[in-house]
Amino acid sequence: MKPYVYIGHPIEKETEAYIAKHCHYKIWNEENEKVPEVVLKQELKHADGAMLTATKVTDEIVRDANQLKVISTVSVGYDQFDVDVLSKHGIYGTHTPYVLDDTVADLIFGILLSASRRIGELHHYVKKGKWTIEPDSAFYGQDVHHKTLGIVGMGRIGEKIVRRAKLGFEMDIVYHNRSRKPEIEEQYDVSYVELEELLKTADFVLLMVPLTDETVKLIGANELSLMKSTAVLINGARGPVIDEGALVQALKNKDIFSAALDVFETEPLPSDHPFLQLDNVTLTPHIGSATLATTRAMEMRAAENVVQGALGNVPRDVIPE
Ligand code: DGY
Repeated sequence: MKPYVYIGHPIEKETEAYIAKHCHYKIWNEENEKVPEVVLKQELKHADGAMLTATKVTDEIVRDANQLKVISTVSVGYDQFDVDVLSKHGIYGTHTPYVLDDTVADLIFGILLSASRRIGELHHYVKKGKWTIEPDSAFYGQDVHHKTLGIVGMGRIGEKIVRRAKLGFEMDIVYHNRSRKPEIEEQYDVSYVELEELLKTADFVLLMVPLTDETVKLIGANELSLMKSTAVLINGARGPVIDEGALVQALKNKDIFSAALDVFETEPLPSDHPFLQLDNVTLTPHIGSATLATTRAMEMRAAENVVQGALGNVPRDVIPE
């Protein structure tokens, strides 16, 4: 008898065909509507596995899910999972590492370049027909090449960014992380520093940490005040890692040069958010992994994880404790 898997969001046909080979399944196919909690709880009561992305997984959701063995997210981040709850109920949480690393690193460099050379801001300027003067100091940005990049959170994506920064832009690199990465330090001539030193010395401060109790509001008014007035802050992690109110003030006061943000405290970004009034911020709608090829690869990896878990095996990408 095939196991039953509940899929809480639309998926590609290829992914569905793969799941169909191994499991009975049902899909919540509404593009713009989250699966209602009551429907989800009902489905999970008799599910062996679930694919849920961007759904908060709490005790309430899984309390009656007595045969559930795995919940698989189509993302590398898994802050929507309550890890203690999953382990209490003996459910594997899985994510999709590796397959998105290069794609996210590309996007990070894109928004870093936009915020430093003011590409987004000046694109709007030209489109609005405001370009009436020869290029002059009004268009100046900050150089990227040969500057210092400070990476907070040196995981797999951090390493991909190091390669781009070092080999492509000949940058100096410092990093801060929970644990040191001697192999990266050696291979790329990268130095470990304390967060305070990184903030004081880096021309680009890039946040790539997972969202945990320790990283909520990691960057607030105090940290922003340590940064250079020419510095650019880039967030490719999760919105709550930055105190957004403090960042708005720092950008308004020009305490830092600019910011590039792909993630926000509230997503989608509310239409009255103060970021929308600022010129010195590049905003993208959480698109780190958003290419067709990468999204397909992530979905397939998430599908493999849910199938393995539902069949009673240990899935490949169990989230770290
Ligand atoms: C993830 O997969 O967690 C990333 O945020 C995608 O952009």
